[in-house]
Amino acid sequence: MGASFSISPQLSQVLGAAEAVCVLTGAGVSAESGVPTFRDADGLWAKYNPYELATPQAFAANPDLVWSWYSWRRERVAAVQPNAGHVALAGFASMFPRFTLITQNVDNLHARAGSPEVHELHGNIEHSRCASCSLPYHGDAAPRSSIAQRCSCGGWIRPGVVWFGESLPERELLVAREAAANCALFLSIGTSGQVYPAAELPLIARHNGAYVVEINTEASAISEHMHECIALPSATVLPVLLDHTRALRNSSRSTSS
Ligand code: OAD
Repeated sequence: MGASFSISPQLSQVLGAAEAVCVLTGAGVSAESGVPTFRDADGLWAKYNPYELATPQAFAANPDLVWSWYSWRRERVAAVQPNAGHVALAGFASMFPRFTLITQNVDNLHARAGSPEVHELHGNIEHSRCASCSLPYHGDAAPRSSIAQRCSCGGWIRPGVVWFGESLPERELLVAREAAANCALFLSIGTSGQVYPAAELPLIARHNGAYVVEINTEASAISEHMHECIALPSATVLPVLLDHTRALRNSSRSTSS
């Protein structure tokens, strides 16, 4: 793996002892798979205007443009592979009695890496639905065409993602807020912390006594709320944290038996 950085005694302690761990991921966790982020210098919002592509008004005004942009993104994420960060997070799921993985990403890479349960706050690009009757069109059922398609009811089929100005899925948000409020360790990974309500989750965790750690190559808008920030790529850091946790948990199991 080749990564060397030192895990702080506080983080090590909580990795070894935590009953409940909560993780929030953003676009940065998929950057090393080749999926562009949004707000980095080469990110999507540097090239495209979100108000022309990621709002209900934009879709109503130009369904073909919006559908073709999402088709392009869907093809792009289908062509890449989960990276070592996604794989490590899948491994974390069995390390703690309670582990909650929350993502703002729509790229499906956590599930493809083997994470058993992923709470998707902004939807999933693989899923589409009718904008009028809500009939779902999952996976291959979604038209691959770059031209927007009609549902059998006559409505437009739209990407199953959350657009600016839309509400997040209620149940996922509830699960996320509860997990943040009831964890011992919260990891905020690869997110700029600029989009709410996702960005409030680490703050909820901190307010309720969790140890809160950011893993991000740059400082984020919420770095100041962290107990510590690890300024390295997530595909480097997460496998090291997983190995460390495994070693701690195995040794405590063998001493208690
Ligand atoms: P952003 O593009 O805003 O932020 C990505 C973050 O990842 C930045 O803070 C980078 O420094 C960091 N980063 C880049 N490469 C990294 C790496 N290898 N390891 C760790 N960190 C890295 O993406 P999000 O915060 O996910 O919403 O954006 C939140 C939401 O804004 C998205 O879900 C999307 C967007 O508009 C909607 O489309 C509704």
